[in-house]
Amino acid sequence: MAEKYHIVTYGCQMNVHESEKIAGILHRLGYEETDTNENADIIVFNTCCIRENAENHAFGNIGALKKLKKQKPNLLIAVGGCMTQEKGKTDVLKKKFPFIDIMFGTLNLEELETLIKRKKTQKKRVIEIRETEGEIIEFPDAYRTSYPNAWVNIMYGCNNFCSYCIVPYVRGRERSRKPEHILAEVQGLVKEGYKEITLLGQNVNSYGSDGKTGTTFAELLDMVASIEGDFRLRFMTSHPKDFNEDVVKVMEKHRKICRLVHLPVQSGSNAVLKAMNRRYTREKYLDEIHMLKSRLPEAEVTTDIIVGFPGETEEDYLDTESLVKEVDYASAFTFVYSPRQGTKAAEMENRIPEEVQKDRIMRLVELVNTLTRRKSEKYLGKTVEILCEDYDAKKGLYLGRDEFGRMGYFSSNTNVIGKFIALKITKANGISLYGEVVSVKD
Ligand code: 5AD
Ligand code: SF4
Repeated sequence: MAEKYHIVTYGCQMNVHESEKIAGILHRLGYEETDTNENADIIVFNTCCIRENAENHAFGNIGALKKLKKQKPNLLIAVGGCMTQEKGKTDVLKKKFPFIDIMFGTLNLEELETLIKRKKTQKKRVIEIRETEGEIIEFPDAYRTSYPNAWVNIMYGCNNFCSYCIVPYVRGRERSRKPEHILAEVQGLVKEGYKEITLLGQNVNSYGSDGKTGTTFAELLDMVASIEGDFRLRFMTSHPKDFNEDVVKVMEKHRKICRLVHLPVQSGSNAVLKAMNRRYTREKYLDEIHMLKSRLPEAEVTTDIIVGFPGETEEDYLDTESLVKEVDYASAFTFVYSPRQGTKAAEMENRIPEEVQKDRIMRLVELVNTLTRRKSEKYLGKTVEILCEDYDAKKGLYLGRDEFGRMGYFSSNTNVIGKFIALKITKANGISLYGEVVSVKD
């Protein structure tokens, strides 16, 4: 019987896709998937360090394995991802959890195969973390678990050093994949029947700015959208300092590209944006939104917002509220500022008291929910195109998303996962929509 693996993933889409690459490596080694720790012969933690609570989660879950490892000494425990790239964190992990067998980083993911093989021949644990990024290593065989959606990295790393953010320290400088590799991957995925492709990068708009590809993001998007086939195309994340009209013109040209742009604003106050080192102003951000909506009136925008950044006054916070209202986001991810060691903001002295942060996040969440609910109600009676992604056994309903990322539930007698459904919306409940199938596209 084949040995089994279980991967525990924390954090963003980038990590979810990296776990698919880890799964690809494990399948190459002959492992099969299981979804419990108890049945696994190897457990891999793909960690995140963007906020303290992501780290605490991982610490808790790794710590909880102590007993299982005692019962099953041959169980391999591997820890990778952003946490292991953090300065000093591997030492903390080593000390706290002596039962970890393998540690690897985001910059040497491809080495995991060798590290596992090495661990199997030696008693001593294997720790291999690279300090700096190397050339991009192409992964031929990610084991994808998200049909009909597929994620495709177009670049790695980040050069922006927003003052609160640890990503540039743990993922290295920007490296762009060659357009021919990206195109070949997407062509392959479309051929295999994937219906939604999301191009991934920390700042997709700076694709190619390392000068190695000779292609801008707008050009790349145009090439990918020109691939024949019935699929949707998304991209994330756009950075407001670089988002431009060229990209919107390509969106106009191709109906395949979803009319949804994830454009993290972080704050609506110019003083806070400056302290965050975001390198745009509220006015420039709003100009971009107007440019987008004047070319594509149906376009929607989603965002990320941080409240309680050092020095944020009540007035600054209210600027964020007013910007949220003005943009009228389709949805927003909202976060309380979390100091990350080694970043500029962690050194700032004008920290905001926790109760003020809590108060602001609650008010902001309420505002965002109100906007989202209002948008949901506008769907009532309309027919929208949903890409069916899954079946919710608890609800007994299929579910999928429209191009704006709205979740729609419906019942069907046949399995329609991977199909585009025309859904007439009959009920809106918070952010979820419910409807009746009008037609199924083959
Ligand atoms: N504290 C809180 N939120 C953060 N983000 C990044 N770093 C931090 C931090 N230190 C948020 C930003 C970013 C999203 C992925 O996570 O909003 O866009
Ligand atoms: Fe972090 Fe800013 Fe880079 Fe995004 S652009 S990953 S927020 S440093």
